[in-house]
Amino acid sequence: MPAKDDHTDRVFCGTIVHSTKSDPLEIRENAILGVKRGKVLFLDGKDRLQQRLREHELDTECLVNLTPRQFVMPGLVDCHIHSPQLAITALGTDKGLLDWLTTYTYPAEARFADHDFAHQAHHKTVRRTLRGGTTLASYYSTIHTDTTLLLCQAADELGQRALVGKVNMDLIAPEFYRETTQQSVAETERFLDEVLSYKSGLVTPVITPRFAPSCTLPLMTKLGEIAKERNIPIQTHLSETVEEIETVMKLHPGHQSYTEVYDAAGLLGPKTILGHCIHLSDKEIDTLKSRDCGLVHCACSNNTLRSGVMDIRRLMDRGLKLGLGTDMAGGYTTSMLASIRHSVDVSNMCAIHSHNKQRQNGEHQQASNHTTDGSPPYRPLTMAEAFRLATLDGSSVLGQNCGNFEPGREFDGLLIDPEVKDSPLDLFDFDTPDDVVQKFLYTGDDRNISKVYVQGREVVSRTE
Ligand code: GUN
Ligand code: FE
Repeated sequence: MPAKDDHTDRVFCGTIVHSTKSDPLEIRENAILGVKRGKVLFLDGKDRLQQRLREHELDTECLVNLTPRQFVMPGLVDCHIHSPQLAITALGTDKGLLDWLTTYTYPAEARFADHDFAHQAHHKTVRRTLRGGTTLASYYSTIHTDTTLLLCQAADELGQRALVGKVNMDLIAPEFYRETTQQSVAETERFLDEVLSYKSGLVTPVITPRFAPSCTLPLMTKLGEIAKERNIPIQTHLSETVEEIETVMKLHPGHQSYTEVYDAAGLLGPKTILGHCIHLSDKEIDTLKSRDCGLVHCACSNNTLRSGVMDIRRLMDRGLKLGLGTDMAGGYTTSMLASIRHSVDVSNMCAIHSHNKQRQNGEHQQASNHTTDGSPPYRPLTMAEAFRLATLDGSSVLGQNCGNFEPGREFDGLLIDPEVKDSPLDLFDFDTPDDVVQKFLYTGDDRNISKVYVQGREVVSRTE
């Protein structure tokens, strides 16, 4: 457990990497990054070091001198992850979503009625994600209020910034893992009271109706009201598979789309976080944009459960708020580095598919980079854009003031060492700093994450 009085004032000297609104991957060499009381104080050139130290009454003990290959980057943000599903990670990937939920997921989650098991398992998840560089996560827990509080405790104790939700389910679910509407509402209120009275600087409660097939309209409507009254964020799943959409449309024949069902329940707003969003119509996208919702791309899960191909460029071009999520254990890993790579891979598939379609239609690519009908070719997600989605954009989807190193932001960061003894990276003398960052993003792993900082506190330190 990190000590509360941990020394949090630091000035990193060396290469600093982060995203801004205008630059998805800014690499600043010979830079200084000042952190005081957990917040970013300055990001400047090394030539201003003495002046900055004097100005902010920092002494030289604060200095952290990076080696030429090391760099500091923002912590990774997982906008959608199921803590209780760690035990089934990489298992049961033979079924599609709805069968997977009933066969593997609900029995695994039902175990969390047990206090000791839940304590151990939730700590395991938080330890694992923090170790992988996830400094902020939005967690789905289970329907159990008391053991969901243990997940809040795990995040708080181990030093991870987190949104935590007690899951609501009063409709399609097995007897052993279902609540009544009344219970679900009362337990949500109790959960919110408990978490808010705890006054954690790291944990925020999030209202978590699992998804429309497992929640009645009266329950969703009541949860929407509570969220509005108490100004609490909401997270749920939307439009993950075609079979799920058909189930929702059968349950709600009076509504024209899945999105419309959530809108009718009052669940859509600027603090709403929606996982997956793969099979959306243009009209649904317009609604989500007008409600200023955050959407989460869960590429690994979408592939693993064969849910669909999410076209993230389509949503980016429409200006939606977007982040990335592992969706562990729909996704088979807790690694946000893997999420970054999967999102780039899926977007490349969209580009290949689009080019093939154009070719089949006789629209050969022109030297001018335009198709014969004048439309620009598909632009796959760049690694730099994926990096911003996994840091700054994710922080914004989760309503947090971290994600980059602008002065005034909370300092959640990673010290990356591409040259640790057992490093998976192969570097060469002629590699530029851009090359090193690119190699880390494509091939680095936990071994390269030497230190993890949350709110300025060192919460993970790798010992070789
Ligand atoms: N939809 C409803 N519940 C879940 C879940 O646990 N995982 C995924 N991937 N989709 C869901
Ligand atoms: Fe999920």
